[in-house]
Amino acid sequence: MKVLVIGSGGREHALAWRIAQSPRASRVLVAPGNAGTALEDGIANLALTAISDLVAFVRRESVVLTVVGPEAPLAEGIVDVFQAAGLRIFGPTRRAAQLESSKGFAKSFMARHGIPTAAYATFSDAPGAHRYVERHGAPVVIKADGLAAGKGVVVAMDAAQAHEAIDMMLVEHKMGTAGTRVVIEDYLEGEEASFIVMSDGRHALPLATSQDHKRLGDGDRGPNTGGMGAYSPAPVVTPRVHAKAMREVIQPAIAGMAAEGAPYVGFLYAGMMITASGEVKVLEFNCRLGDPETQPIMLRLKSDLVALIEDALAGRLDAAEAQWDTRVALGVVLAARGYPEAPRKGDVIAGLPAPAEDFHVFHAGTALRDGKVVTSGGRVLTVTALGHNVKTAQRRAYEIANSIHFAGMQLRRDIGHRALSANRRQEPGRLRQERDADPT
Ligand code: AMP
Ligand code: GLY
Repeated sequence: MKVLVIGSGGREHALAWRIAQSPRASRVLVAPGNAGTALEDGIANLALTAISDLVAFVRRESVVLTVVGPEAPLAEGIVDVFQAAGLRIFGPTRRAAQLESSKGFAKSFMARHGIPTAAYATFSDAPGAHRYVERHGAPVVIKADGLAAGKGVVVAMDAAQAHEAIDMMLVEHKMGTAGTRVVIEDYLEGEEASFIVMSDGRHALPLATSQDHKRLGDGDRGPNTGGMGAYSPAPVVTPRVHAKAMREVIQPAIAGMAAEGAPYVGFLYAGMMITASGEVKVLEFNCRLGDPETQPIMLRLKSDLVALIEDALAGRLDAAEAQWDTRVALGVVLAARGYPEAPRKGDVIAGLPAPAEDFHVFHAGTALRDGKVVTSGGRVLTVTALGHNVKTAQRRAYEIANSIHFAGMQLRRDIGHRALSANRRQEPGRLRQERDADPT
């Protein structure tokens, strides 16, 4: 069958690459894709983005299945349009996608269904928000309500930063319409993990766990980004934490959406804070896979992804199982000069290696120009490698990353540092045991 993947990032390259290995997929198209998807065997790009054009293409070319990568088309209602046209598509409807597209919706949904998250208040007026911060104090977190491409969250360590963030969103409108409403929530301490499942509307199939690195610089310093690297599995998600996340977050979320008349079908991503005592709190829901988390997750997935998606569309994920490579996968993002504020485009990329069994270089912001691969966006590549432990996966990923060059290339040198921290080394026995018990 022909399968269409919507999007153009590293996540979509990894999805398309894995889908292309399915015996069920005869041809994979990526709209609009990048240089990596253009060069991959069995995959071709399609220069379309408007939903109406995609529907016309899918009809004309008899595409059997469409899989949506990013949140923007989901929030715009691509799934509703495809379904109305009788076409098979995997992703949440516009209403279900509100779990990501409106932080206010997500917070009140969690309150309605008893899903653990930070206490919060919502404001559309700056004076009310300022008064709340004066009463509440800092640290506190200010979030734009709408989609802001990962830039709508300010973790304010003091009250001055909080007041500034409120003015930036509600007075100066620097986040546009995404920031006409803000959520102010309590600051949570702990370690973050990305917990992603596939949902068929009633049942959830957890994917391998992972951990992102959101800050630009080593040691988690510098501005927030879309993510500078990720690895899977995340040791902080012990079997106990995993069970808790399924019981307290994922199952009530899926049951809650169904009860509210917007059954959730698609990938569901819970960004979680895991506290020192092992409590799980939701920082955010995303209505899609994570980027760069998808790259290591797809490198580890051994099952047929198309079969899993078909199980989800048929409502039978309760009977599905996903097999994972027991190795660790670790992905390092190579970003363009000027990322995240003003990434430069057009730099020629040299040294791209031929793929091998234990690594894959997934493209994001790349394009082909005169037969050369050039940068065309902020996050350019995710070099993703497998290893028998975090250290060896890390060593392999950096070995490959060091062979790739483009002017102004930025990368973090410490992806995986939390899994290797002194803290964890004190308890190797416990971790080894827990990891053996649950390799995902
Ligand atoms: P979000 O887009 O809501 O996940 O927020 C982006 C990042 O801000 C998260 O990955 C966290 O690092 C941080 N963050 C968000 N909410 C909180 C919170 N309540 N407490 C501490 N950090 C937070
Ligand atoms: N890497 C974080 C995200 O995809 O939202």
